[in-house]
Amino acid sequence: MTNDFHAFPPIQARFPYIWHGGDYNPDQWLKHPGTIDEDFRLFKQAGINMLSLGIFSWASLEPEEGRFEFGWMDDIFERAEKNGIGIILATPSGGKPNWLAQRYPEVRRMVRHDDWPGVPPVREEQFRRHNHCYTSPVYREKVACIDRALAERYGKHPALSMWHISNEFGGQCHCPLCYAAFRNWLKARYGTLDALNEAWWTGFWSHRFQAWDQVQTIDPSVEGMVLDWRRFVSHQTVDFCAMEADVLHKHAPGIPVTTNLMGFNPWHDQFQMAKVVDVISWDCYPQYHDRPGSEETQGFALAHCLNRSLKDKPFILMESSPGPINWAPINRLLRPGQHRAKSLQAIAHGSDSVLYFQMRKGRGGSEKFHGAVIDHCGAETSKTRMFREVEALSKDLTTLQPVVGAYTPARVALVWDWENSWALRASSGPLDIAKDVVRTIRKHFDALRRHGVCIDIIHPERDLSRYQVVVLPSLYLLQDGFAEKCKQFVENGGTLVGTYLTGIVNQYGLTFSHGWPGDGLRRLFGVWDEEIDYLYPEERNEIRFQFESGSALTGCCEVRNVCSRIHAEDATVVATYEHDFYAGEPAITCRKAGKGNAWYIAAECQDDGLAALYAKLLDGANVPRLVASELPSYIDVTERIAADGTAYLFLINPTKMETKIDLGIDEWRDAFTKEAGPQTIQLGAWASRVLFRRPAVK
Ligand code: GLA
Ligand code: ZN
Repeated sequence: MTNDFHAFPPIQARFPYIWHGGDYNPDQWLKHPGTIDEDFRLFKQAGINMLSLGIFSWASLEPEEGRFEFGWMDDIFERAEKNGIGIILATPSGGKPNWLAQRYPEVRRMVRHDDWPGVPPVREEQFRRHNHCYTSPVYREKVACIDRALAERYGKHPALSMWHISNEFGGQCHCPLCYAAFRNWLKARYGTLDALNEAWWTGFWSHRFQAWDQVQTIDPSVEGMVLDWRRFVSHQTVDFCAMEADVLHKHAPGIPVTTNLMGFNPWHDQFQMAKVVDVISWDCYPQYHDRPGSEETQGFALAHCLNRSLKDKPFILMESSPGPINWAPINRLLRPGQHRAKSLQAIAHGSDSVLYFQMRKGRGGSEKFHGAVIDHCGAETSKTRMFREVEALSKDLTTLQPVVGAYTPARVALVWDWENSWALRASSGPLDIAKDVVRTIRKHFDALRRHGVCIDIIHPERDLSRYQVVVLPSLYLLQDGFAEKCKQFVENGGTLVGTYLTGIVNQYGLTFSHGWPGDGLRRLFGVWDEEIDYLYPEERNEIRFQFESGSALTGCCEVRNVCSRIHAEDATVVATYEHDFYAGEPAITCRKAGKGNAWYIAAECQDDGLAALYAKLLDGANVPRLVASELPSYIDVTERIAADGTAYLFLINPTKMETKIDLGIDEWRDAFTKEAGPQTIQLGAWASRVLFRRPAVK
C-alpha cells in the first residue's frame, strides 16, 4: 500500500481562503439604477468574497455579431477589486444570442424522438439554453472569438481568479455535421468496416455495414453502436470544452479553468473532462427533508466524493441554493441549520468553496423563484432568515480557512466507469433496476460509510495501490487490462469485492465467452456465475451467513432484485441462499489469493446485511475507522488533513433524526470554540460539527 497523500496549495494564491459567493447576473439589472450598489453593500455584509460572472451574458457582451460591449463588465471588475472580491469569469457558451441562432442555423442542435428513433431528427428553434451543436465549426468559431476577447480584456485583471467554461455541458445533437464527425471517429477507432461490423455484431438482423456512409442514424438494436455513440458524444463534448480551455490558456496564461459538472451526469465521461480542465467544480442541489434514509441525502455525499476523486484533489462547489430551489415538484424551505449542514457537507468531502446559484433573484425569467442571497425585497434582504444564515456561514468559513487544500485520506474505493453505465443502459434487458449503476454504487457507498471510512470513487484506469479495499459494483463492462490490475491488487494484499453483473462484457459490449465473470476474474474470485435470476419488485429471497457462531455476522439477510446462481469453484462459501430451487447454493464467497482476498457478492443484499458484511471485511483488511460508533446511513462523518498534519473531522446530520456518536479517542477540539471534548457527540436535527486534532509531536 502506497502513501501518496498530500495537501494542495490554494487554487489561486491571490484568493487563498474558502470561496463564498456565486452566480451573479448584474447585466439583468443595468436599467435599474442603484441595484448594483445595493448588491455590493449586501455582499460585504454577507461575507461574500467570490462572484461567478457572465455565465449567460453573451447577448450583453456581443449584442451584434462582432460588436462588443464590455463597459458594464469593466464596472463589475472594478467594484470587485475595490471590495476585495474575486471573480470567476464565465465564457458565455451555455446560452447563445438570437442573432447567432438566426444567422447560422447549424449552431442549433437537431433532436430525435426517443419513442420513435427511426424518424429523421428535427432542428430546434432558438429557445432555452445548453442546446448547441458541439461539432458546428461556426459555433466553435464564434465561441472562440468571444472567449479570446474576454481573455484579452480580463486575463490580467487582479480580480480574476479562475475561468468558468460554459455551463453544465450535456445533451446530444443528431445533425449531419455530428453524424459525419461520428463516422470519422469510427474510422479512427476501427480502421476497417470489417472491424466495425465485428465489434458491433452486425450479423444480427442483417445490419452489416457495406459502406461508412450507411451509418446514418443511431439504431438501438445495434447495441455496440449505441455504446460508441455515447462515447462519441462524450468525446465531442470534452473536445469542445478543451477548445475553449485552449483559447483561455493561450490568451490568459496562468489562470486556471474549470467547467461546472453535474453529479453523475450521463452525457459525458467526467473523468475525461477532468483531463482538460485545471480544477473540478460541480453544482449540487440536495433537497433535504425530514425523511431519514432519503435518497437525496446520501446521493449527494456520493457525488461529492466522485468530484473529489475526478482529479484526486479538492474541488469547488460551484452552485448550491441559499434557499429553496424552484424546479422540484415540491420546493421546501431550508430548515434552520440545513444551509450550514449542506455547505459544510461539501467542505467535508473536499470542496474549497461554498458558491451559490444565485446572488440575486431576477424579477422575470424561469428562475425568479429560485433561492438567492439577495431576495426580491432588495435592501431589506439583510433582515431575511436566509441572508442571516449566509452571513453566519461566512464567519464559519473564515474560521475553517486552514482546511483549504486539505486532502481526504481514503483507503476504500468504489470503481465507477461511465462507459460501464452506458453499456448497461444500452443493453436490452436484463432488468431495469439493475441497469441503474448509480443506485448500485450508492448502496455500497452507504453500507461502507456507516463504518466511518473515507471513500474514493475511481476510474478503472486509476492506480489501486493506495487502497486497502476496492469494490466493483456491477462493473458489467471490463476495460482491457483491468482484470489483470485487480489480480495484482489482490496478490499484493488488497481486498477486492465483486458483485453480480460484474465482468459480463468487453469494451465493445460483447459478452465474455468462457464463463462469467470474464477476462480472468472467474479465476480471481474462484467463482463461476452461471445464470442470473431477476426478481419481481415484491419478491424476496434470503441468504444465510455461514460464519461460526459467535461471529458478528450470523443469521439471515434479505436479498432482492438480483440473485446470481454461482459455483464456488475455488472459494470459501460465506453465505448461501435460503429459498427457491437454488436454496443451499452459494451467494457470497471469499477467495484468498496471494496476500489478499477476493470477495464475490452474488445477490443484492438488504442494507443492514450489506453493512454487517462490510464491517467484517473492513476489519479483515485493517481499514482504520474515523469514529468508534457504527453510524446511521444518513450521517456523514469524514476527514480532511491539512498540510501541517492537522486533521479535521466533520460530523454532519442532514436530517432531523438525533444521533449520538462515540469518537473513540479524546483528542478532538471544536474547530469554532476550540474547546476540548466531549468524547461523545450528540448530533441534533440538521446539526453540523467540525473538530480538529493536531498531529502528535514526534
Ligand atoms: C443549474 C444551472 C444554473 C441554474 C441552476 C438552478 O445548476 O447551472 O444556471 O439554472 O441550475 O438550480
Ligand atoms: Zn450537431
